[in-house]
Amino acid sequence: MGAELVQDHDIDAIRVISDVSFGDLLTDPYPAFRRAREIAPIVRLDAANILIATRFEDIMAIERDPDTFSSENPQSLVNKVMGHTMMRKDGAAHAVERKAVDPALRPGVVKSCWGPRFEALFEEIMRDFEGNGEADLFTALAEPMAGRALVEVLGFQGVGWKDMARWSQALIDGAGNYSNDPEISRLAMEAAGEVEEAIDRVLPYHEKNPNSSVLSSMIHAEQPHDKAQMYANIKVAIGGGVNEPRDSILTMVLGLLENPDQLERVKSDPNLWPAAFEEAVRWISPIGMYPRRVAKDTVFSGVQLREGQQIGLCVSAANRDAARFDDPDRFDVFREKKSHLAFGAGSHFCAGTWVARHMVGRLVVPKLFERLPNLRLNDRDAVQIRGWVFRGPTTLPVAWDI
Ligand code: HEM
Repeated sequence: MGAELVQDHDIDAIRVISDVSFGDLLTDPYPAFRRAREIAPIVRLDAANILIATRFEDIMAIERDPDTFSSENPQSLVNKVMGHTMMRKDGAAHAVERKAVDPALRPGVVKSCWGPRFEALFEEIMRDFEGNGEADLFTALAEPMAGRALVEVLGFQGVGWKDMARWSQALIDGAGNYSNDPEISRLAMEAAGEVEEAIDRVLPYHEKNPNSSVLSSMIHAEQPHDKAQMYANIKVAIGGGVNEPRDSILTMVLGLLENPDQLERVKSDPNLWPAAFEEAVRWISPIGMYPRRVAKDTVFSGVQLREGQQIGLCVSAANRDAARFDDPDRFDVFREKKSHLAFGAGSHFCAGTWVARHMVGRLVVPKLFERLPNLRLNDRDAVQIRGWVFRGPTTLPVAWDI
């Protein structure tokens, strides 16, 4: 997640892209990213009022040097809305919180504990619409699946997926509210308050009943979270844990439906489903950009950067860097296997990676194709993909034989 960026005042040495509008970025950011990659390692994107890094190797270098490129950002809107989350801490302060959360999200726990729960949720959700012969997979499947799975993984009780989805959106909107819109702030603070109440309600249960959930893990860790840490880190997981799995379900289905030859090969060799998932999040990365703050004056690949400047790391651009990926705009499950940046890199590498990989790549999408015969796009022209900080299909109308 990441949208907070403060304005910098020292951009003389930096090349500028000024003829791309904010609307262009939302509709299709990739042409602007391609230009940025070709122009310089760090470019100013006027429409979004930020500096951006777009090349794969540059983003890796930035993530390898947290002393110079910090995740801390005291003025961040994320901190205002969510509190001081682990995502905006460095070094030991970050490590201790991450260590308390990780046990709930490890591959083994995901497979043995969450996998069967996700399967049960998928069955319930499918029952509601599989007899219909057509649906918008955004509303029918992807959003409820992502929301309901997160309720369980975090350890909430008595919380519906619609509340979870509303909280997620309100917190994300609040974290990106640069225009200081009072209504957006109000909704974000209201959601933050509701999250805290929901945590308070369920804590006595987790205190008495240690289990595999994130909240339980936070309380029973060797160095347990205090209330403020719990509030902040649960909010950051809500902000990132609904949209991204939702968008990756839709993107993966879209990529496969648009490439029937690849779909047939994947269906005939189920070992290929994980590769199809990785290709989907490389192709259209659900988180397109997150920020780092320049912690000290530095020259980066020949570009003078000043302390306090914000750099947006455009991982969705890096994931289409032709210097790393052949024919990068193409969805190709069979491309040469190489790591991508959809889950970030370095110490903040997404904590929920294994949840997403298992739920989306091993369960939901494979089972969807198994369950709905002759699944096909209902109206390709109606498919919309939007966003650049967060990006994914906003509607995916499909049909199948019943
Ligand atoms: C396809 C799905 C997902 C994608 C593409 C994704 C992507 C990312 C990225 C790029 C970051 C790094 C942000 C930064 O460094 O500023 C991140 C961090 C994080 N993600 Fe995810 N995410 C996904 C799913 C999830 C889920 C399901 C959860 C919760 C169960 C989650 C929880 C987190 C947390 C807690 C962090 C902060 C980690 C830290 O600071 O150490 N994510 N995610």
